Amino acid sequence: MKEKLRLETLMVMEAKDQKKNTPHVLPIYASSAFGFENIEHGIEVFKDPASSHIYSRFANPTVDTVAKKIADLESYGIEGEHFALLCNSGMSAIHTLLTALLKTGDTILTQANIYGGSSELMTKVLGDFGVKTIFTDLRDLDTVDNYLNNDPSIRVIYFETPANPTLSCVDMKSLVQLAKSYNCLSVSDNTFASPALQRPLDFGVDFVLHSTTKYLNGHGNGMGGAIIGKQDYYQQVWGKYKLIGTNPSPFESWLLHNGLKTLALRMEKHSDNAMSLATFLDKHPKVSVVNYPGLSSHPDHSIAKSQMSKFGGMMSFELKGGLEEGKRLMNGVKICKLVPTLGNVDSLILHPASMSHLHVDKELRLKAGITDGLIRLSVGIEHIEDLKADLGQALDAL
Ligand SMILES: Cc1ncc(COP(=O)(O)O)c(C=O)c1O
Repeated sequence: MKEKLRLETLMVMEAKDQKKNTPHVLPIYASSAFGFENIEHGIEVFKDPASSHIYSRFANPTVDTVAKKIADLESYGIEGEHFALLCNSGMSAIHTLLTALLKTGDTILTQANIYGGSSELMTKVLGDFGVKTIFTDLRDLDTVDNYLNNDPSIRVIYFETPANPTLSCVDMKSLVQLAKSYNCLSVSDNTFASPALQRPLDFGVDFVLHSTTKYLNGHGNGMGGAIIGKQDYYQQVWGKYKLIGTNPSPFESWLLHNGLKTLALRMEKHSDNAMSLATFLDKHPKVSVVNYPGLSSHPDHSIAKSQMSKFGGMMSFELKGGLEEGKRLMNGVKICKLVPTLGNVDSLILHPASMSHLHVDKELRLKAGITDGLIRLSVGIEHIEDLKADLGQALDAL
């Protein structure tokens, strides 16, 4: 057949792998769509899209394989089937899930100290579609109970634990019990901890979110997000996902898969380095407060200890000299890089008031403990003595 075809036709035809061995490493299926053997096969797949592949906005073999791995990690040891959907960013995962769970007139109950983009998404995007957001301290269970009791429109309780960037932690088990008694769903953004250190599904949380851009990828070379939940909710969430089109590229999913292979090792080293650095900073005369859930002085230390196996690589601290010293410190460090992301192998430093939380209402920001002089540090996996020396010399020079 091929010999009779013209050269132009041969060029257009898809190349097929002639060898039978399966690849050792996950292949990248850079294909927007999938063909059918005949019309009967096509009808069969369209009737049950989950049985095969149709179009990469709906599902893609590379993306699905990585999603399944993340679902397995987050639901490790938990009965029942769970799904994961990968998205093209953490924000698109949050947007997709909240869109799938909420409608006009519904309310989200959350905390002020979540990632600035998440609170902005709630107030500025979902707010325009008639979804209200209430910000409160989710550690205060009486206040939460009061809100739930008085406002039946609250459909979702949304939290980060530890939260960005003050590292405050909520008691997931108690919060979820309370939410369930009012028929309200719970959503946990587990970006800071990762499933290597904490699995919110263990505490009864209904949905877990990730910015996979951070620890799950770990190398800062790809954007992504993930939604994880019980299989019963798959159709409801996937139905919105495929229409909104928040699917990631197979290549970025593949990079994420590479990162996942070293997640446990990295999280252990991030945690050990951060614990050591937090202790060092806590004793430093130029530092007034260190927010790290691993320190026994942290207000949420005991709850963090009951939910996490180690305390992760994120911390924030306040300099006695406030904003001006904060800026000077950031210009003084050499190993820590001034980069507005977190969870990478290298140490990254950020000034939330002028960067990640710049567009968050100042009153809301201060209420959440994000003061003008707060510095956020994503502790990397470098040698701890080099990190101490770097921050030490920058602090001494203030
Ligand atoms: C806790 C948390 N959730 C969600 C996001 C948003 O993720 P992305 O930047 O991948 O959209 C971020 C970003 O910094 C974050 O820190």
